[in-house]
Order: sequence, then structure tokens, then C-alpha cells
Amino acid sequence: MRLMGKRVIVTGGSTGIGAAVARRFLAEGAKVAVWCRNPSHANNIAVELPDLALVAAVDVADAEGVDRAFAQSLERLGGLDVLICNAGISIRHSFVDIPREDFDRVMRVNVHGVFYVSQLAARHMLKQEQGGAILMTASTSAVTAYRYYADYNASKGALVAMMRSMAIELAPKIRVNAVNPGYTMTPMQEAEYSAEMLDQVNGIIPMKRHARPEEIAALYVYLASDEAGYASGAVFTLDGAESVASGAAYL
Ligand SMILES: NC(=O)c1ccc[n+]([C@@H]2O[C@H](COP(=O)([O-])OP(=O)(O)OC[C@H]3O[C@@H](n4cnc5c(N)ncnc54)[C@H](O)[C@@H]3O)[C@@H](O)[C@H]2O)c1
Repeated sequence: MRLMGKRVIVTGGSTGIGAAVARRFLAEGAKVAVWCRNPSHANNIAVELPDLALVAAVDVADAEGVDRAFAQSLERLGGLDVLICNAGISIRHSFVDIPREDFDRVMRVNVHGVFYVSQLAARHMLKQEQGGAILMTASTSAVTAYRYYADYNASKGALVAMMRSMAIELAPKIRVNAVNPGYTMTPMQEAEYSAEMLDQVNGIIPMKRHARPEEIAALYVYLASDEAGYASGAVFTLDGAESVASGAAYL
């Protein structure tokens, strides 16, 4: 019960990493509101986790939708202590083939979406005595040159840069951190793999496997807890040593 009574929003909380965070945070005693894009996924997570305070189907790239979902979340949670900006998308293209509308969409979800929600959260948390924590799911893509994801890589690099500015502007009341997962077995990844590709990718990771979403969620428990009171402005990488393995980025 390391998060007893913490009031938490998790964006992109219906599947993958975000759903693992929602499950674990509930188990740790938090009050959790989940946001996600897809109404049928929203329904699934609401059925699986009836203790959620709210499940909102909202597009984080839609500023007005974000305003509404944020107000509703504050009302249901009775305030906000922790925001986890986890919603994100990736679309695989070689650089020369990226359609402009796909580039725009990736930026709007992965960067604008985080900005919209975290600005509202920061304004709210600055007014409360105990402050709060804002956490973001970036990616090893922020620092490693993966092929076929130039737009996604740029979006995650932008998140890390934004996190750093937020951390110094919002201290000491609000702690702001980014988590850089490496390859994690979630619907986002599974959608892109043949069995052969999966073996190939596992082969270049020193740990010889993908992360499990629960392993990323465990780091979020620490970062959201009072034990992490001095953690701010940092990037926490969880990638099975992939990004320190020479040559891994080129396969
Ligand atoms: N899986 C990986 O290998 C990996 C690695 C590094 C970083 N990440 C990041 O982790 C985060 C979670 O990804 P995942 O792997 O769990 O994938 P996922 O596809 O299972 O989850 C993505 C979540 O984001 C939500 N979402 C997508 N677009 C949205 C929008 N416009 N508005 C609101 N919600 C939206 C979806 O509803 C879903 O809940 C993403 O930010 C992703 O970039 C994933």
C-alpha cells in the first residue's frame, strides 16, 4: 500500500503499460482515473477494474476534450496528486515515406497531448499545499536512433526536453520525471511483429527478452510514491541494457 490515498490520472491506461500501471496503482491503494482513446477498450478496462474512479474515452490531442476529462477526473478523484502521461502512438514508415498527416498525428498525440494534460495538472498542483508529481512515458527512442520511426523518435525527444524545463520551473512543489522503456511487450509492439522479427529483436537485447508492462509499472510505483521525494528532472531508463549495448541501435 505504497500509494494509499494518492489521486492519480493515467492517460493511455486501457492497454499495455498504462493498464499495468492502473492495476498496480489500485493494488497499492491509489484512487485512479484512466483515460484512453478507444471506447471499447475503455469498456474493457472498466469491467476488469471496477474500482477505477473513472474511465474516460478522450483523445489527448483534442484540447477541449482534455479540459472536460480533466475537470471530470478532478471531481471524481477529489483532487490530483499524480499525473502519468502515458498515451502514445507510433506509425512505422521509412523517413522519406512519412505522410505529413501521420507526422502531425504522432506529434499531436505524443507531444501536444502531454502538454495539454500536464499544463492543467501543473496549474492545479501548484495551488495545493502538498504539490504533486508529473510522470511521462517517453522511450529509449528519445536517445537512440531507431529506423522507421523518425517522427516517433522526435516526439519522445521533445517530451524529455519538455520534462526538463518543467522540472526546474515547477520545483520544489512538483516533481517531474520521464521513464524511458525499451522494447516492452504490449499491443503497440505486438501489432508490428512477425514471429521472426520478435526473435530478431529479442536477440539484440542483452536480457534476451522484452520488458513486461508490469516491470515498467513497478518503476512508476516508486516515482509516484513519497519515497521518490528527491527524484525530479530525471530520465529513468528500463531497457534490459539495450541502449548501452554496442550496435543494438542499428538492427
Ligand atoms: N511498447 C513499447 O515497446 C514501448 C517502448 C517505449 C515507450 N512506449 C510508450 O509507452 C506508452 C504506452 O504504450 P504501450 O506500448 O502500452 O501501447 P498501447 O498501444 O498498448 O497503449 C497505448 C495507450 O494509449 C492510448 N492512446 C493512444 N492514442 C491516444 C489518444 N489520442 N488519446 C488518448 N489515449 C490514446 C490507447 O488508448 C492506449 O491506452 C506510449 O507512450 C509508448 O510510446 C512503449
